Amino acid sequence: MAAKADYIAVIDSGVGGISVLRELVRLMPNERFLYYGDSANAPYGKRTSEEVKKLTLSAVEKMMTHNLKALVLACNTATSVAVRTLREKYPDLIVIGIEPAVKPAVDQFPGGKIGVMATDVTLGEEKFNTLLQRFAGCADIVKIPAPGLVELVEAGLANSPEMDAFLESLLAPYKGKLDALVLGCTHYPFAAAAIRRVLGDKTALIDGGVGTAQQT
Ligand code: DGL
Repeated sequence: MAAKADYIAVIDSGVGGISVLRELVRLMPNERFLYYGDSANAPYGKRTSEEVKKLTLSAVEKMMTHNLKALVLACNTATSVAVRTLREKYPDLIVIGIEPAVKPAVDQFPGGKIGVMATDVTLGEEKFNTLLQRFAGCADIVKIPAPGLVELVEAGLANSPEMDAFLESLLAPYKGKLDALVLGCTHYPFAAAAIRRVLGDKTALIDGGVGTAQQT
């Protein structure tokens, strides 16, 4: 009889976590992955923290019916509100969260101007603001909420005139002004080409997916 498979579960509010999954598969091609995208309830970023926590716990419960060796919370929004509770609730499970890649950005551009684009929930949560305080003296860091971006990615419009128009109006004030833009939501890497079209290639785009995969 074949041995029971141990999966690495990857969870997001929708398709965004696939940007993390692709890094996980690249690094660990022999692992077995289970992906859960809660697109029916996306975007999480527009919900209250309590709602996001409830939805995340319920998604994890569904995954726990499988044999898991690890859980990757491939959602900055869900991580910011639920990672601590999940670690308490499942002490024997390895839980890896994702947070906006502020540290790698500051390491690359000490003293630079860094934008952090993320959902309203992520930018408002204590977890992110603690991170921000840690690096506040090391660079000029500005929060850039992007309500509406996740919806475009969920609708399959990551590379579309609608996305270009959305990003043009959101990012116009930052053109030529940022050393780096942290993509603090796992949906955003899918819009990286469109972001480049607006910001040009002098701003580095920094995505936490690779670091999360390495940590896993
Ligand atoms: N992909 C999620 C993140 O990393 C959030 C998207 C949403 O608002 O649902 O923050």
